[in-house]
Amino acid sequence: MRLLKKEIRKKMIQQRKSLNSKDLSDKSLAIFRQLQGLETYKNATNLMTYVPFQDEIHTTLLIEDFLERNLQVFIPVTKPKEKQIIISELLDLEKDLEVGHFGVLEPKAYAFRPKDPKILDLVIVPGLAFTKSGYRIGFGGGYYDRFLPTLKHKPATIALAMDFQIVDSLPINDYDIPVDMIVTESQIIECKKHRSEQ
Ligand SMILES: Nc1ncnc2c1ncn2[C@@H]1O[C@H](COP(=O)(O)OP(=O)(O)OP(=O)(O)O)[C@@H](O)[C@H]1O
Ligand SMILES: [Mg+2]
Repeated sequence: MRLLKKEIRKKMIQQRKSLNSKDLSDKSLAIFRQLQGLETYKNATNLMTYVPFQDEIHTTLLIEDFLERNLQVFIPVTKPKEKQIIISELLDLEKDLEVGHFGVLEPKAYAFRPKDPKILDLVIVPGLAFTKSGYRIGFGGGYYDRFLPTLKHKPATIALAMDFQIVDSLPINDYDIPVDMIVTESQIIECKKHRSEQ
């Protein structure tokens, strides 16, 4: 099982690498446009999203959109020892960030503004591969699988993905937490519907 997840991760990372930067920008913009049409997105006021790393979809579009509308944006800060996520408010995309754990951008010391995650109403969940029922393969730390169940108020969870990242099936463990919705450049997938069909 572990090996299979590992192989899928590797394959998806390779596939992502084969996109050129124009493809990635175009797809990111298409995904953002789809997202902007969703009520869940339009109604959200406290967004948690990761900052893109390497070939990830440009979530900076969402961050800029929220900040321009004077809404709140929170980014994950990982605590590798405890495998935990803390959220920190992001006020300035240009100034607040520096390279942190795993090479991802995290807040500089002065810009670390931790907040109780119960205020979140929308969480953008990262991942490398997804099924239509919302199950995902992340980066293998189990960070989101631990973090999401701590949110007792159940904010909406959305994954952004490119079409090739949607696969027919994935190895699933008991602790894997599915997302509510997946938005790709061509589809909006309501995962709960697919779960009830199974
Ligand atoms: N709720 C949990 N409590 C304790 N350990 C967990 C929990 N969820 C996941 N794990 C551990 O984390 C490890 C990685 O899980 P998994 O392979 O599903 O990662 P992932 O979903 O790709 O990562 P992420 O959630 O960070 O995106 C597993 O070996 C598992 O034992
Ligand atoms: Mg998992």
